[in-house]
Amino acid sequence: MCAACEFNQAKAEGFAEKLLQILNSGSLALMMSIGHRVGLFDTMRDMGPATSEEIAGASGLNERYVREWLNAMTVGRILEVDDKAERYQLPPEHSGFLTRANPTDNMALFAQYIPILGQVEDRIIGCFKNGGGVSYDKYERFHEVMAEDSGQSVLSSLIQDILPLVPGIIQKLEKGIKVLDVGCGSGKALNLMAQTYPNSEFVGYDLCAEPLEVARKDAMEKGLSNITFEQVDLTYARTEISFDFITAFDAIHDQARPDKVLQFIYGSLREDGAFLMQDIDASENVNNNMDHPLGPLLYTVSTMHCMTVSLAQDGMGLGTMWGTEKAQRMLKEAGFNNVKENRLEHDIQNCYFVCRGDS
Ligand SMILES: C[S@@+](CC[C@H](N)C(=O)[O-])C[C@H]1O[C@@H](n2cnc3c(N)ncnc32)[C@H](O)[C@@H]1O
Repeated sequence: MCAACEFNQAKAEGFAEKLLQILNSGSLALMMSIGHRVGLFDTMRDMGPATSEEIAGASGLNERYVREWLNAMTVGRILEVDDKAERYQLPPEHSGFLTRANPTDNMALFAQYIPILGQVEDRIIGCFKNGGGVSYDKYERFHEVMAEDSGQSVLSSLIQDILPLVPGIIQKLEKGIKVLDVGCGSGKALNLMAQTYPNSEFVGYDLCAEPLEVARKDAMEKGLSNITFEQVDLTYARTEISFDFITAFDAIHDQARPDKVLQFIYGSLREDGAFLMQDIDASENVNNNMDHPLGPLLYTVSTMHCMTVSLAQDGMGLGTMWGTEKAQRMLKEAGFNNVKENRLEHDIQNCYFVCRGDS
């Protein structure tokens, strides 16, 4: 038997252990999502050690379910319990990553994507067999969680860190320019920009009616009169208006036709305009993604959402991990010959491409 063919017992045992960890971690992700949605983490943050009855009472929830959840979280080393197994607590070292009190680092929010993706498993299995895709309307709560996600990952740094990546844009926004956000979803980023820069005019385009309703309601509640949201399928968008600044937050790779959308964006920019594209920071080559901190999550989200929603529109199905290399090539093909990549410390998931037509 050749050396390479020898069975490595330690390798097999290590792998079996890893598989157990995967099952436990997957289970904890579901429990974390529930803890976030029903507010258990937030309640426990303010309580100190407490019994399941006290925690259930403070949360307005059923004690039997709360107790089972507490035990799952405790053996998962997310919560702690006393020696008598009576009083549970969320350690302060953990609460910053699990509660709404921390507007930038709440990981429990992201755990919601696991059950959201699980909802469409049967449909995805159908696609494995027959091709095709799963459309946006089959995902309950996707837009809601996406809005919560961008509320945390984009809003917290939009004005301070993200917009300043585009040289001179703050001054222009303050003076008054025309701005478009493509794939705006629930409009969190655009509404914040419209509120911050009242002299500028803002337009948001998205395919889906549901998030646009949320975006309009939010704009109305904020009393904004410098913003409109329109239902537009960007695959067929034609340049009718010119903009000084166009943004896309996590909204190019999952388009049906990212190539056409980028051409539309290029064609819709005024001569000295800029396009800011926030998109996934990964490589098109899986070998380069082996140490990506979110690698398995992002390929999974791709299979179960980003790639399939594109294929459902007869699109290219580039997927979440299209890679910065492909993004660069496609931006260039669209006409952007001046593209600068930026990374921000708080955001391990995205690259910020600042794109212009000039060289
Ligand atoms: C990942 S979400 C990002 C939403 C938003 N930018 C945010 O950060 O919350 C991608 C968005 O692109 C929109 N989208 C997908 N295909 C589209 C198309 N063909 N035309 C217009 N919008 C589209 C989706 O409806 C969705 O709201």
